Amino acid sequence: MEIVETPEEARAIGEGTRGLVPTMGYLHEGHLSLVEAARRRCDVVVMSVFVNPLQFDDPADLERYPRDLERDAELAEQAGVDVLFAPPLEVMYPVEPVTTVEVRGVTETMEGLHRPGHFQGVATVVAKLFAALRPDQSFFGRKDHQQLIVVRTMHRDLSFPGEVVGCPTVREADGLALSSRNLFVADREAALSISRGLTVAAEAVEAGERSASVLVEAVRRNLALDSVDYVTLASQHDARPLERLDRPAFLAVAGRVGDVRLIDNLPIDLVGEMFVPDLGIRLDRPSLLYSR
Ligand code: PAJ
Repeated sequence: MEIVETPEEARAIGEGTRGLVPTMGYLHEGHLSLVEAARRRCDVVVMSVFVNPLQFDDPADLERYPRDLERDAELAEQAGVDVLFAPPLEVMYPVEPVTTVEVRGVTETMEGLHRPGHFQGVATVVAKLFAALRPDQSFFGRKDHQQLIVVRTMHRDLSFPGEVVGCPTVREADGLALSSRNLFVADREAALSISRGLTVAAEAVEAGERSASVLVEAVRRNLALDSVDYVTLASQHDARPLERLDRPAFLAVAGRVGDVRLIDNLPIDLVGEMFVPDLGIRLDRPSLLYSR
């Protein structure tokens, strides 16, 4: 694996189809599952590690975001990354940008309402990564389902070549969706109420429930968070809220445990005529988040 700081160096390494896994580092099995998906489909796997200040609406969140490039490099190499693109701030933003990417519609619900400016920061940095690294395929987690929709929409509207691939959420053995923010969760039981609620909703979908309000209530009844930002059934196509499960959807939750904000969701796919909930993948051992 080579570690580079500029897009020119990144593009010069390797031959064949290129897969991109954008991250903000502090890697865990969720990120590494994207690398695995990229390896299956591409000749060269490029991972970017960049904590993008543009997408943080809360300065305290940016300040405490864990950073450890040495750790990331070791895990990325083991996972089969060929090129680790870790640009310093002045490579990504040599001057304060006056051009940003704003995706309308799909950003006007859920995370978009609760984190003003967040998706503009995400869309801008992902567009810059696409332009700079020119991947044939890029890999994003369903853990951040609305982000995946924003990226797909931006990719389409700005005529970027290649393909955006969505991958399942990786969960800890107890069901908590992997996130570097899990490191700061003091009340584990409270955090677990999110995935428990989504599991109950998944069972309801499998039993034939199609009413959004009933599914939302099934989740809410189980939640033991300090505060809940939203529980919403939304369309996978445009992130708009649904009244009934009548198309591919996701049941999304956001809330706080102490001062840690957590998000999770249950994608519900349409397979033939069947609605199939996707609870993702569960680790059978403690996550490497906790080991180092
Ligand atoms: P980050 O939070 O580091 O996540 C990088 C990628 O890993 C995203 O596509 C995210 O959805 C995926 N991911 C995170 N946790 C996951 C899990 N438990 N299972 C599966 N995939 C998971 O998302 C970002 O960074 C940034 O917004 C970024 C896209 C890099 C732009 O700055």
